[in-house]
Amino acid sequence: MKEHFPVMLKEILAAAGEVKELRTAVDATLGLGGHASALLEAFPQLFLYGFDRDAEAREEAAARLAKFSPRFEVIADNFRNIASLREMEGFRGADFILFDLGVSNLQLTEAERGFSFQNDGPLDMRMEHGSDASGESAADLLKRASLQELTKIFREYGEERYAYEIAKGIVRDREHGGELNRTGELVALVRKILPAPVQRRMGGHPARKIFQALRIAVNDEMDALSEALDGAAEILSPGGAAAVISYHSLEDRMVKLRFRKWKDEGKGELRPRKAVIPSEDEIANNYKSRSAKLRIFVKSE
Ligand SMILES: C[S@@+](CC[C@H](N)C(=O)[O-])C[C@H]1O[C@@H](n2cnc3c(N)ncnc32)[C@H](O)[C@@H]1O
Repeated sequence: MKEHFPVMLKEILAAAGEVKELRTAVDATLGLGGHASALLEAFPQLFLYGFDRDAEAREEAAARLAKFSPRFEVIADNFRNIASLREMEGFRGADFILFDLGVSNLQLTEAERGFSFQNDGPLDMRMEHGSDASGESAADLLKRASLQELTKIFREYGEERYAYEIAKGIVRDREHGGELNRTGELVALVRKILPAPVQRRMGGHPARKIFQALRIAVNDEMDALSEALDGAAEILSPGGAAAVISYHSLEDRMVKLRFRKWKDEGKGELRPRKAVIPSEDEIANNYKSRSAKLRIFVKSE
């Protein structure tokens, strides 16, 4: 099993440790099982339900967690259905809920999954893939979507300044018989569309935001998160905590606003009031953590 550094692990363990009666945890994003195994290790009385919509992630997580059997259950579902836990026998509320959003290293490093702008692979990006695959791949979306829809996706989900120019370039290429089936082809086209000085000014890979936007659209990530937050509020026990680690401002904004709404409704409080970011040491050791923001909501007792 590969070495794996779960993001803001110390902070997550501390937040779980503050919950008075910590019996049941839900890891909504098992991934490689890094946070989940650390939680099970640190709190020997804990039972953990873990969701992941990606079969490979579930397999990897189950292997990492095997030594804690039977203190966990892996659930093959989208976390938007988190409230369905209430229908499970013996479930009496979650004392700690964790979301570590986005893609896992496993998904990013496997070119075949199509998430990476650095390695050439099929333009897929569906978190459910192989025999589980449903819905449109990124390639299908790029073939079908109108100029307006593409612009909106790139602007809203990628916060890409050149959303319109890139969408226009893609549609024009399509009209001239061009096809985008590989990640490398999309990267090459974005590079062709954007003038060199613009690319130099962008700081970072010119296709990074386009890949992020397509991933969010293909996996309906914003709606899934919105439903999941509502579901989490329903199943959180009194005195329990929900912790969300997000990696881009869209997600973080949604989490911040939802937590504030819960607070205004008298359901509990944000603790701490502001987002927590990784230490300089962590960022130096794990580059992926650089954009992470952690927000924690504690439900009233
Ligand atoms: C950043 S990784 C989690 C890493 C994990 N915390 C660890 O320490 O190994 C995010 C995981 O969430 C999963 N995921 C993303 N959106 C999801 C959703 N809507 N429902 C279920 N799983 C989801 C992805 O498949 C991925 O495996």
